[in-house]
Amino acid sequence: MEAAAAAAAAKPAIRVAAICGSLRKASFNRGLIRCAIELCSESIPGMRIEHVDIEPLPFCNPDLEIDGKFPPPVEAFRRKILEADSILFASPEYNYSLSAPLKNAIDWGSRPPNVWGDKTAAIVSAAGGSGGIHSQYHLRQVGVFIDLHFINKPELFIQGYRPPVKFDGDGNLIDPETKERLKRVLLSLQAFTHRLSRSS
Ligand SMILES: Cc1cc2nc3c(=O)[nH]c(=O)nc-3n(C[C@H](O)[C@H](O)[C@H](O)COP(=O)(O)O)c2cc1C
Repeated sequence: MEAAAAAAAAKPAIRVAAICGSLRKASFNRGLIRCAIELCSESIPGMRIEHVDIEPLPFCNPDLEIDGKFPPPVEAFRRKILEADSILFASPEYNYSLSAPLKNAIDWGSRPPNVWGDKTAAIVSAAGGSGGIHSQYHLRQVGVFIDLHFINKPELFIQGYRPPVKFDGDGNLIDPETKERLKRVLLSLQAFTHRLSRSS
C-alpha cells in the first residue's frame, strides 16, 4: 500500500452519500455511482460510498412539513445526508441544467435546518453532447447557497453516447479509461475531505 493510502486508511472512514440525478432504469449516471462504490471497496481504503435514492421524494412543498416534521421519505433522505461527511453527485444534464429530481432533492435537504452545510462534494456527469458541463456549473452555483464545498479538479464530463462505448445496456460503466478518471475524482474528494477536517 502506498504511504498516502496507508495514512488515509488509518483515519476514520469517510462516509459518502451518492446521489443520482436520473431516475432512468439503465441510467449511465447511476452506473457511475455503482462503479464508484466498487472502486472504493476494491482500491480506496478509508472511504465508503452509499447510494441514496431520491426517487421516493415527493415534490418539494413546505405545506407538507407538519409540526416540524417532514414526510417519511424526506425524513429518511435528510437523515442519510446528515450522517454523511461528503456528497458525490452523478448529475445528468437536462436542458443545460441539473435535472428536476436532483434539484428537488437538494431543495428538500435545504429546508431548515439545512443538511448539506459544510460537507465536501464532487460531481461527475454522463450526458449527451455537452458531457454535463452546464449541469455541473449550475450545481456548483446551487452549492454556494447551501454551503457545500466542491473539489475543483479533476472534473469528469462524459459524453455518454460518443464512441468508444462507455456504458453497457444496463448502464454499467465498461470503459477502463473512464473508470480510472472516476477513481481520480474519488481520490481528490478523499484528500480534500481530510484537508478540510484538519482545518476545522
Ligand atoms: C429532458 C432531457 C433534456 C436533456 N438535455 C440535455 C442537454 O442539455 N445537454 C446534454 O448534453 N444532454 C441532454 N440530455 C441527454 C441526457 O443528459 C443523457 O441522455 C444522459 O445520459 C441522461 O442521464 P442518464 O443516462 O443517467 O439517464 C437530455 C435528456 C433529457 C431526457
